Amino acid sequence: MKTVVSGVRPTGRIHLGNYFGAMRNFVRMQHEYDCYFFIADYHSLTTHPNPEALRANNYHILAHYLAAGLDPDKAVIYTQSDVPETAELYLFLNMNAYLGELSRCTSFKEKARQNPDNVNAGLLTYPTLMAADILLHRADFVPVGKDQEQHLEMTRTFAQRFNHVYHTDFFKEPQAFNFGEALVKVPGLDGKGKMGKSEGEMNAIYLTDPDEVIRKKVMKAVTDSGPTEPNQEKPEIIANLFQLLRILSSPEAYTFFDEQYNQCQIRYGDLKKQLAEDAIRFVSPLRERINALLADEDLLKKTLRHGAERARESAVKTLTEVRHIIGF
Ligand code: TYM
Repeated sequence: MKTVVSGVRPTGRIHLGNYFGAMRNFVRMQHEYDCYFFIADYHSLTTHPNPEALRANNYHILAHYLAAGLDPDKAVIYTQSDVPETAELYLFLNMNAYLGELSRCTSFKEKARQNPDNVNAGLLTYPTLMAADILLHRADFVPVGKDQEQHLEMTRTFAQRFNHVYHTDFFKEPQAFNFGEALVKVPGLDGKGKMGKSEGEMNAIYLTDPDEVIRKKVMKAVTDSGPTEPNQEKPEIIANLFQLLRILSSPEAYTFFDEQYNQCQIRYGDLKKQLAEDAIRFVSPLRERINALLADEDLLKKTLRHGAERARESAVKTLTEVRHIIGF
């Protein structure tokens, strides 16, 4: 059976981008593949969270995984830091990861630009840690959103390089995965880029947002003054709003507003009302399940313990071979 690995960073909350870019596929894949889904808490250390926040955030992500429908008896669900073999593989991979390629990585440049006072080595070597996560279970597929494409490419480079240096074919070259389709980029509500945690509170709809917060965020989404000619191409901010409509609303609703746009009769207020109600219809049952799960700390603890045991079995196997290949 083919192996699948993916994870989410536990910084803050989970938004619709995380869900439609990645988590939705986790749930679908658990039935067909040998799956490892983890909480990337080592990765979150680049921003120095305090210990209480770190623990709470891990439970938070786990509650999202379970609420979305992940079954801990099917998929292995674990916390990255419970599997220290990850860190050992990261160390080995770093020996063949070069400053040039790491510093050219788009996400590194972006983070360094956003936080010039915290350009730490963990940030620079973020792609090697991510490669370690994936190669730890010798994954075939990695369900991720479009923003992770470059990291996957680097993972393949590091796998190839290890194989080349040690004259082996031990590591496979994992592929980014979205059920035969292009990788997803869910736009944010500011009309400019992707929905993301670092783009400001109003840019993202979180799976724990109350109904009235969702309504407020969507109604404030950026629009323009409307088309001036029939069948005009949509500018980016409007195309992004329609993309959200495509993701969250029915095909009929999408076609209705698309036709209205093409006939220059669009009322953005009506479109946003539709989008807000559809977002609420989608988010509110998930939110209820997440909140119920968060109240059951025993269950969350037990689930992670069970996941850590299963993940370590696979990790120890890989690291035993890797150490042998390296010559230890
Ligand atoms: P993170 O925590 O930023 O995001 C988790 C997942 O959500 C996807 N995603 C999106 N997809 C579509 N549209 C968006 N607007 C959007 N925003 C986020 C991301 O592509 C990702 O799949 N480095 C990773 C975590 C990670 C990982 C790994 C993933 C660490 N090790 C190994 C896969 C395999 C990250 O920061 O994702």
